[in-house]
Amino acid sequence: MTNQWNAAQYDAKHAFVYEKAKGLVELLAPQAGERILDLGCGTGALTAEIAERGVEVLGVDRSEEMISQARRKFPALKFEAVDARELRFNAEFDAVFSNAVLHWIPQAKQVISGVAHALKPGGRFVAEFGGKGNIQRLVEGFHRSFSALGMREPDGVSPWFYPSVGEYADLLERHGLEVREASLFDRPTTLEEGERGLENWIRLFRQTFLEKMGEENAQRWIREVERQCRVELFKNGSWELDYRRLRIAAWIA
Ligand code: BEZ
Repeated sequence: MTNQWNAAQYDAKHAFVYEKAKGLVELLAPQAGERILDLGCGTGALTAEIAERGVEVLGVDRSEEMISQARRKFPALKFEAVDARELRFNAEFDAVFSNAVLHWIPQAKQVISGVAHALKPGGRFVAEFGGKGNIQRLVEGFHRSFSALGMREPDGVSPWFYPSVGEYADLLERHGLEVREASLFDRPTTLEEGERGLENWIRLFRQTFLEKMGEENAQRWIREVERQCRVELFKNGSWELDYRRLRIAAWIA
């Protein structure tokens, strides 16, 4: 997980991150009067949508930059900079909601433990994030590009946690959560801005890693990734990434 997000880029060019998750809010089914934690709220778009249902929502994110942007956009809502691995809530929420965040955090046990403690008895955890096989073609293109350029592959090219249904359900059950819905599904995702889309995506989501490479090498490498991935991932004038989502709904006993 990074806390160095470019919140403006995220809003301007990667709005699909929350646009595609509207169905997840339906699965959450927020009820007026409930108290809900939006874990990894980013710039607050889904926090605001949940709040519109008459719910008291707290949006938390590790990134101060995202939280500042969320506060600017939605001054009436509550946001706090909190690391998902260090939740300190105690039986306070009717539900914990999370979209497109948990794949950034390999320490899943710590997160789930915090979520389980945060829920009131009978509360629910509804989440969606990258699941087993997510962006596999892209990551393979990353590796091939280092080889093709004869560059040493730095650490952290693919830092993500993409569990299977079985692996994640097991973790949830070990923390007293009963899994009632779990699915892994392909969700091909078209990036904005045509030809530039993949570079934008890489620069937003692999920023710290690119900085380590230096700008000149980063540019060479990005051009090579585009070459390596074009046949599989460039369709009708846009880049389409091979996203796979893991969607779960689990209830605390
Ligand atoms: C995802 O939403 O699947 C994702 C986003 C950024 C980096 C990696 C995966």
